[in-house]
Amino acid sequence: MDPHFFDKAEAALPAVCRDGADMALVLGSGWGGALETDDVLARVPYGDIPGMGQASVPGHSGEFLLYRRHGRRVAAFCGRRHWYEGVGWETVVMNVELARRIGAKTVLLTNASGGLNPALKPGEFVILRDHINTVGVNPLIGPLVEGWGPRFPDMGEVYTPLLRNVLHDAARKEGLRVIEGVYAFTSGPVFETPAEIRAYGRWGADIVGMSTVPEATFAHACGMSVAGLSVISNMAAGIGLEPLKHEDVLNASKAARPAMAALIDSFVRNAPLSA
Ligand code: HPA
Repeated sequence: MDPHFFDKAEAALPAVCRDGADMALVLGSGWGGALETDDVLARVPYGDIPGMGQASVPGHSGEFLLYRRHGRRVAAFCGRRHWYEGVGWETVVMNVELARRIGAKTVLLTNASGGLNPALKPGEFVILRDHINTVGVNPLIGPLVEGWGPRFPDMGEVYTPLLRNVLHDAARKEGLRVIEGVYAFTSGPVFETPAEIRAYGRWGADIVGMSTVPEATFAHACGMSVAGLSVISNMAAGIGLEPLKHEDVLNASKAARPAMAALIDSFVRNAPLSA
């Protein structure tokens, strides 16, 4: 990636962003409506952020918010860009790079995913414990850039245990059943074949989706504390009986919205900022 790609985007953020952010949220499919804000300090449509571009996926609203909540300054990216959109890694991880440039050291990445683990049901939540990058490429391929971590980042613990505990506590308070799981990242835009799903299951994946891993990889390499939270929108190919449709992804996330809002709010309130 070219580090200068992000300069114009950073310059397009309102001046109030330069006073910093305590944490960042990336809100994936269906999560965008789950924010509770006390005080919005800045609101920028993605179309006004050079290089970010309009989100092209239904259910991804496409705006950046800086807001205050529970005394914390939160940078929220409502909607994300995906590798399958063909937009390049800079655009895919711009959310994390902008958050990093304005000082956020903690990031919560959310998504909707397909369930492989038969113990899961649509509408339930999985806290990411680890991931498998089935795509085999990642945003750090390229020149070594100061601030983006070492040449060979350790990936032993991408998802910070303290932040996973914050999400467990939040779920417990809401009476939600959650498990920790392994997320398999695929390129999309196709859903998987049943044979692929069987293979990923044998590799140890609990859930599958087309996002999050590029951002988690990049944020972790940069030294940020990372949490990942997924809502199960469907059972993965060959496990559920129905053909997979993006509408189902959106409907399942809509039904889970009150729970999503509570989990996010608890995270914003309780995440240790220097974790
Ligand atoms: N596969 C890949 N990505 C997804 C799925 C799925 O089943 N559900 C939601 N995002």
